[in-house]
Amino acid sequence: MNYPRRVRIYEVGPRDGLQNEAEPIPTEQKLRYIGLLRAAGLREIEATSFVSPRAIPQLADADEVMAALASEPRDGVRYPVLVPNMRGMARAEAAGAAALAVFTAASDEFTKRNIGMTIDESLAAFKPVFERATALGWWKRAYVSTAFGCPFTGTVAIEKVVDVSLRLAELGADEICLGDTIGVGVPSQVHELTDAVARAGLPVERVAYHFHDTRGTALANVVAGLEGGVTCFDSSTGGTGGCPFAPGAAGNLATEDLVYLLDGLDIEHGVSLSGVLEAARFIAGALGKPLASKVGQAGGWDAATGERLS
Ligand code: COA
Ligand code: ZN
Repeated sequence: MNYPRRVRIYEVGPRDGLQNEAEPIPTEQKLRYIGLLRAAGLREIEATSFVSPRAIPQLADADEVMAALASEPRDGVRYPVLVPNMRGMARAEAAGAAALAVFTAASDEFTKRNIGMTIDESLAAFKPVFERATALGWWKRAYVSTAFGCPFTGTVAIEKVVDVSLRLAELGADEICLGDTIGVGVPSQVHELTDAVARAGLPVERVAYHFHDTRGTALANVVAGLEGGVTCFDSSTGGTGGCPFAPGAAGNLATEDLVYLLDGLDIEHGVSLSGVLEAARFIAGALGKPLASKVGQAGGWDAATGERLS
């Protein structure tokens, strides 16, 4: 198989993982979690969201989290933060962020419920955000949620996903992340979508995938993405999270499951499975939940000795 030799694992646990947990956890625990993720070798860690604290109370401490991270040497680690508007941009800037992600969707009904805007309105809101971020030299990502289906309106046309992606790229996004927000996609759809965005002129190096494992298809979808040449995949250590505005969105693909797969396929990524498992156990303990991931439960496996790795 012709897989990419190396991929990036983009960790979303501290943001996507924690935003959907019933109880907020203390800021120090979030920082400890992020420290363990960094120690595991993760180099892109989505740290928090500068959104309305009323919308996402779990991340109301975004200013403190980002300021604490910005006060330490970055050591080559990127900490993107979610920014929905100029108000969020001002907060992110004041806290010392240097990378951001804006987020819209491929269906109006979803963006309205999530950020109170239509897709067109969201793109208008992102324009000044991207202009400011570009002036500051920040790395910029844009999410297209509901790229495989919408919890409110069902099927989403590929043309719509392609159209929104191209408009975000034109606005200046360095990377477009296509999200299966409710975990309904299957590999044939991944192949079609990867081909469609590439045909429309978006280089595959600028495309990332964000799969949820709601129906057990996330890793199969990663393999389909790899087959299409995609080199960035999102995951959440411990497999927590989802979008509180998307019913049934539970379960990001777990980083430990992704790492196990990539190790087995001999694809480089720079992340240690045992390090990720340690972070996964920590966050499960902090949330008072059992570890949901497959590899979290079974452990890794050493092909040379047959030993279980934890
Ligand atoms: N940070 C903090 N507060 C913000 C803010 C930001 N970036 N943007 C707006 N607010 C505040 C406003 O000051 C206002 O506060 P008030 O009610 O005390 O006056 C309130 O939020 C509403 O602001 P408004 O401009 O009317 O926007 P809205 O109610 O339409 O909300 C968003 C728009 C984008 C701010 C809100 O929907 C949101 O934060 N959504 C986040 C959703 C999310 O993170 N989903 C998960 C990711 S997939
Ligand atoms: Zn997610």
